Amino acid sequence: MVFSKKDHLVGLDIGSAFIKVAELQISPKKKILKKFGMTPLAPGAIVDGRIMDVEAVAKTIRALFRSQKIRKKDVAISTGGHSVVIKTINTAKVSEKNLQESIMAEAEQYIPYDIEDVNIDYQILGESHFSPDQMNVLLVAVKKDIVAEYMDMTTMAGLNAKIIDVDTFALQNIYETLPDQNPEDIVLLLDVGASKTSLNILRDNTSMMMRDNDSGTHQLFEKISTQFETDIQGAEKILQAPVANAPDPRRMKMMVHDVANAWCSEICEVVNTFQSNTNDTLVTKVVLSGGGSYLPGFADNIRSELEAEVFTIAPFRGLQMDEKKFSSTFISRVGPQAPIALGLALRRVDDK
Ligand SMILES: Nc1ncnc2c1ncn2[C@@H]1O[C@H](COP(=O)(O)OP(=O)(O)OP(=O)(O)O)[C@@H](O)[C@H]1O
Ligand SMILES: [Mg+2]
Repeated sequence: MVFSKKDHLVGLDIGSAFIKVAELQISPKKKILKKFGMTPLAPGAIVDGRIMDVEAVAKTIRALFRSQKIRKKDVAISTGGHSVVIKTINTAKVSEKNLQESIMAEAEQYIPYDIEDVNIDYQILGESHFSPDQMNVLLVAVKKDIVAEYMDMTTMAGLNAKIIDVDTFALQNIYETLPDQNPEDIVLLLDVGASKTSLNILRDNTSMMMRDNDSGTHQLFEKISTQFETDIQGAEKILQAPVANAPDPRRMKMMVHDVANAWCSEICEVVNTFQSNTNDTLVTKVVLSGGGSYLPGFADNIRSELEAEVFTIAPFRGLQMDEKKFSSTFISRVGPQAPIALGLALRRVDDK
């Protein structure tokens, strides 16, 4: 296969709190980080995955591309949360030719939206564990109106969205490039962002279960702004500073503790259900990402509840880079928030 520089897309992760952008140079032997940057987005510009202020988002993206001196216009973007439904379904084995028809016929019962309102895609995962006549298929449905919203906004930012991926898949893509993986591990990939959390349980790089929920650091903004009588921007500043600097450190510590506990119980409930549905397939490793992973005590909570190894993702580890351009301090600081943009930057124009 011939890889040419221009085949690869710029990865653009449009989060509700931060926009991240990444550009890689990829050859069969190595992947080089060329650009990475991120910038906060005005609060309220994206709410529940919907773009409320198209101009503000487009302007922030344009400024980020300018500051990073990215000239390429072809980008891969992604969506998640309510706009995407991901299900692993069990269906009778049929020929590749008949699969499309049989999936479409079955999809309706799994998708909570009108089938006309979604784009449907699928991927065969392999034979079912329960019967050799059945196979597992990953079904993905993305709401058309949300795709259109993101495409229009990207055009307004002067870019061409060539691929619309799913956040969880982009995270899995970059995770697979990382060294030191043990195929025996059952891995929970977690992304706790500002307004949503996604969970993906992997066995040997194949997803066994994916789930999204509404948890995120926004829960803390709301508590902080009420308790300390500040607006969302003020709350964001308090959250990103050490707890000891908060207006009332003891109260702040309690709020952080309560939120970390709530996230942890939700996550553990999903993991426990998964474990009991799969004859006690135990999650052995948890990889944290997203801004929520900075929350003091959160990793420890998960570690003690799930009795698994818990790490924060180091998504740049499979990439080479000029250390004069990207200091190790910068790389470790932005690491938790970077993986989706990097995963998107692995995509090629002709990917499905
Ligand atoms: N140093 C820090 N300490 C604590 N929290 C932080 C820190 N840095 C960022 N955060 C939190 O992480 C949030 C951003 O995380 P992230 O970039 O994963 O969100 P997002 O991708 O924009 O959100 P979503 O994907 O849910 O729309 C910030 O809003 C902030 O609350
Ligand atoms: Mg995010």
